[in-house]
This record gives sequence, C-alpha cells and structure tokens, in this order.
Amino acid sequence: MLTRLVKTTQIDQVDINGQIINIIRLDQNDPFVCGNKWLKLSLNITEESNRYATFGGPHSNHLHAFSYACKQLNKQHVVFVRGIGPKDTPTLLDIQKNNGLIVRLSKKDYAKKQQQLMQQRWKNIYGEMSFIPEGGNNQNAVNACASWYRSLNLPENAIVAVSIGTGCTFTGIANALHKHTTLVGLPAFYMHEQMQSELLESTSLGELHILNAQKQERFAKMDLIQWNQMLAFEAKTQILLDPVYTGKTLFRFIKHYQDTCNRPLYFIHTGGLQGRRVYQQQYS
Ligand SMILES: Cc1ncc(COP(=O)(O)O)c(C=O)c1O
Repeated sequence: MLTRLVKTTQIDQVDINGQIINIIRLDQNDPFVCGNKWLKLSLNITEESNRYATFGGPHSNHLHAFSYACKQLNKQHVVFVRGIGPKDTPTLLDIQKNNGLIVRLSKKDYAKKQQQLMQQRWKNIYGEMSFIPEGGNNQNAVNACASWYRSLNLPENAIVAVSIGTGCTFTGIANALHKHTTLVGLPAFYMHEQMQSELLESTSLGELHILNAQKQERFAKMDLIQWNQMLAFEAKTQILLDPVYTGKTLFRFIKHYQDTCNRPLYFIHTGGLQGRRVYQQQYS
C-alpha cells in the first residue's frame, strides 16, 4: 500500500483580501504521487498484480503519479498515451526514467481503451497486465476519496471545494459529506449539462453544487493574465498551484464566495505540480 496514505493532511489558512480560505494540502503528501493521485491509486495498485497499465494524455498528472506509485511499490508498468505526437514531454521522460513502458496510441485506438477485445490484444502484444482506467476513475478510487475525506473531520457547516476532471474525487467526497456541509465542484473545463446532472445525482447527505467554467475556457489552456494571477498568489502564500486545475479553479471559488459567506471555506489542493514545467517554458 502507498505509505503516504497514513499521513495526516496538512491544512493551511490563507487570507485573500480579508477572506480566509483553508487550503487542504493534498499536494504535500508526496513529491511525486501528488495530490488526489495517491488516494485514487492506493486501493488500485495492490498485491494482486505485479504489472499495471493505465491511460492518459502526454502531460497527464495521472500517468506521472501512476508511474511513481508503481516505482514506489516495485511494480512493472505500462502507460498508454493518447496521440502519436513526435515529442517526448517532461511527463513521459520521467516515466521512461522509472522504467515504464510507453505505448502511444492513435486517437482512434485510444477511444477504444475500455474495450475488452482491445485490452486483450494489448496483453497479447505487451504481456499480462492489470488495467486501471483513465484518471484512476473507478469505485476503489471513489471509496478511497470518501474515507480520506471522513478522516479530515472538517466543521459540519464547511463549504468544501474541489477541482473536477473525471469527477471521481468529487463523487468520493460527496459520498462522505455531512448533512450540513456543501461540496462545490470546480470543473477544469466547461462542463456540459449531462455530466453536471450525473455528478449532482451522486449519493450524498450534504448539498452538492457545481461552479462551472466559462464556455470559452479550454482544458489545460491558461492565458498570461491567469498565469500572473497564479504567480501573485504563490508569491504571497508560498503555496504553488498547478496551471490545469487549481491555478484556475481556486480563483473561481474565491470570486464566487468572497465577502458573501460567513461559513468556513475549504479548498482541496489536488496536486498536479509536475504540469507546471511546460507552462514555465512557455511564459519565461
Ligand atoms: C491536479 C488535479 N486536480 C484535480 C483533478 C481532478 O480529479 P478527478 O479526475 O478525480 O475529478 C485532477 C485529475 O485527475 C488533477 O490532476
């Protein structure tokens, strides 16, 4: 089991223009299996298999954390990467260093990644392996997020915010919510109504809310204004954010609740800091 699972999560208070935000520092639990990743992988990489495989884009936080988790647990690993891009990204170079096997797929083949026939074909070519879905999104991961959230023992009247990619972390926390607590989901992209409804129908005693991105906001795209806003926050608080998720969603959360709320505000820092490297090159 991933050792960091037993570590208590640190919570830091920051003051943003007079509004106190409690930042739940999941990013601090491990330098590599960072953020919500160690939660989502902890029950998925077990003694049952010696070789694991999963799926993601060439910059994926999930692939990066998965590779380091496998290294930590002495597991062989295979990553199936979306798109036959010519370039090795910093994420993929790290996976190579960890001795992970990288298989690049056309977008067409990638779309078939959950098909049994396809997975069997890959086993025939690359050897036996146990598959974990893209983003680590399965019931094991949902359960791990729920038990971690319970262990935090937050105040019952808290408003708790978390970024959304697949919605796995949101669903796990929703399952464990106290009836007087509100969970705010912050998508890293403009989320269409069907996905919103599915997430809002998650089993929960508490109140669930989605604070969507603007229609024009694109996944993993950050403009210079957003980049500078993130850097200003980091300079003030010494807390690094990631450009795909927290570096955008934290400010959406603050803007919505600033000055209008007397309940304690919590924001979960879900990690993803490895993703900063390409943006740093772009903006420096
Ligand atoms: C840094 C970071 N935050 C949040 C998320 C969203 O998590 P989920 O896919 O569980 O919604 C991800 C993606 O997994 C991520 O990499």
